[in-house]
Amino acid sequence: MTGFQTFYNFSSLQRFISSNPSIASVGIVPTMGALHIGHLSLIERAVGENDLVVVTIFVNPKQFNNPKDLENYPRVPENDFSLLRQYQSVVACIPEENDVYPEPDPYPGVSLGILDTVLEGKYRPGHFRGVAHVVHNLIYFTKAKRAYFGLKDIQQLSVIQLMVDETQLPASVIPCETVRDKNGMALSSRNLLLSQSDCAAASIIFKTLDYVRKKIKKEQAEAVKKKAIDFFNSGPLKLEYLELVNKNTFEPYTTGGADGVCCIAAYCNNVRLIDNILL
Ligand code: PAF
Repeated sequence: MTGFQTFYNFSSLQRFISSNPSIASVGIVPTMGALHIGHLSLIERAVGENDLVVVTIFVNPKQFNNPKDLENYPRVPENDFSLLRQYQSVVACIPEENDVYPEPDPYPGVSLGILDTVLEGKYRPGHFRGVAHVVHNLIYFTKAKRAYFGLKDIQQLSVIQLMVDETQLPASVIPCETVRDKNGMALSSRNLLLSQSDCAAASIIFKTLDYVRKKIKKEQAEAVKKKAIDFFNSGPLKLEYLELVNKNTFEPYTTGGADGVCCIAAYCNNVRLIDNILL
């Protein structure tokens, strides 16, 4: 391979792959750009497991239920490229919308069940249908055998696993640990939209998750949830939801067992942040 390259459609990417016999396995790290250390940790894992890693950068309009959110989503391609240049076996793919969603479209559609109606599914109607659709097509057109996603978006991971199972895409979905800053705040492209004081205020999210994780073995889930909400509301962020659910089924979690996850969505000024912790 000859240094870092950027492809603007899937056919030029496929030509590049076919002309390099040393590429036997392709991994994909789907992103919407504004890359940060969290993305780099996915990329590094993928580099260790594949001959070529395709980092897709595509701000997917189908997954934004709020046009303002789509408009404000950070777009910093030059910065993204300079972060990717450090890797030997990584290329960027920045497809156009009509390349991701061609006619006819290969995505057969999948029913997402409860995932579409709780937590993110409830508060961002249509969001996961858009995520399932775009991830299907990105994996399909890159022909990736492994796809890497962060556990910060734990419900998204379940949606993608369901979509891959239902559509029988020949790819493995690889979950990767959430990367946090020194205050515990999960790294996210949206953090670029926060000031330093916003970031300090947003640390209440991790503090609350940590509180739940510590209390859950000693007290009833309902009581822990109530106290955690009170604690969260003592800070400056606007809570959208704090829920304890089973990490596999996304049904309410009541048992105190090791299969729970606490998920939070909140607004810091106008920036919507999500995070979770396994219980
Ligand atoms: O997590 C994201 O950045 C997006 O939802 C994804 C997986 C790249 C699909 O657009």
